Amino acid sequence: MVIIKARQLVSAEKMPWTYGDPVTLINDAAVVVKNGVIIDVGQWEDLKRKYPNEEVWDFGNRLITPGLVDPHTHMLFAGSREDELERKLKGETYEEITKKGGGIYKTIRETKQATDKELASILQRRVEIAAQFGTTTVEIKTGYGLDIDEELRLVNIIKKIQVDIDIVTTFLIHIPPPSGREEYVRKILEAIPRVGTTYVDVFCDSIAFCVEETRAFFKTATKAGYRLRLHADEFEYIGCSDLVEEFQIDSLDHLLNTPLENVTKIARSGAVATLLPITIFTLRTPKRPPVEELRRQKVPIAIGTDFSPNSWCLNMQTAIEQAVYLLGLTPLEAIIAATANAAYSLRLTDRGVIKPGKKADLVIWDVPNYHWLAYELGRNKAWLVIKNGVPLIKTP
Ligand code: NIG
Ligand code: FE
Repeated sequence: MVIIKARQLVSAEKMPWTYGDPVTLINDAAVVVKNGVIIDVGQWEDLKRKYPNEEVWDFGNRLITPGLVDPHTHMLFAGSREDELERKLKGETYEEITKKGGGIYKTIRETKQATDKELASILQRRVEIAAQFGTTTVEIKTGYGLDIDEELRLVNIIKKIQVDIDIVTTFLIHIPPPSGREEYVRKILEAIPRVGTTYVDVFCDSIAFCVEETRAFFKTATKAGYRLRLHADEFEYIGCSDLVEEFQIDSLDHLLNTPLENVTKIARSGAVATLLPITIFTLRTPKRPPVEELRRQKVPIAIGTDFSPNSWCLNMQTAIEQAVYLLGLTPLEAIIAATANAAYSLRLTDRGVIKPGKKADLVIWDVPNYHWLAYELGRNKAWLVIKNGVPLIKTP
């Protein structure tokens, strides 16, 4: 047993958390951890008296939060697309680049060239970097395989990787091939029952799959026992977010073109809205998700990195910073979006909050209070990452 002592502790009180719900904010706080699980939380003065003989880890004038959860990444690919940055700056859009065989198609070609061993070592390194910035659970999607065998190869690589943090696997039905679309959809439908991931996700958009195709994928996936998440309304609204009325979708992601009336449908469904500010930044789009309406309708908001060759950032701290500066989330809201609600978007209710009975996935931050997680930009503020009660990474 160990008592962790810090200047300030912040966590959602419950999960999912919506705007206005209570938070746990304790100054001169302590967390008691035993066998990888949180067993008590409170004021240092009280817990010191309650557990007088236990070991104390005193982290001084620092902040403690739950470990960060990144609920949306495309981490497994080879190659890169830095050339597209220059093209975007000259005025080409993401959609135009994709239609010309760049974007996702380029990454599919480059990923195919890489061996299993190369991909595994790329992935391992990326997960380690994410963890250094405070991520203790990460969702990883496939999606750069295109054909079924290649996609299954990617699933296997994700499943076999040995890392210290937890991974949730998602089979992403990403983009149709340039020709033979109907045949492709048929093959995917046939393969879904044997992909063996936790989630099935679809990129439902004007440049990817239409609502009818997504509906067919989701019907098959639901029948086969997968949970669902959705890339919805990112580039255009073609009716994708309406699918929350037909299926139980754990998380609707992006939502840059979602009509306000659809927020009511999302609210009624119990889905989380996962917002991806780093992608908004790298797409250089003026569009924004309907944050005010999501709050008003009590939709839980999560944030993720959306790490991909289009938005190369493994750092959830950047997602917190940009959620505040670009989307107008409050620092507290952004922290909860990156912890309790991100965990809940993956329906991992055993983590994401600092409460007795939850996993002791924690981050000690080299800042005096929670405002600083959004306020200070550009430094790795994670000072110590604790996974299952064990110190994992210490930043020098
Ligand atoms: O979430 N929207 C589709 N997929 C990713 C980007 C993937 C890529 O460009 O390689 C996204 O933005
Ligand atoms: Fe994505």
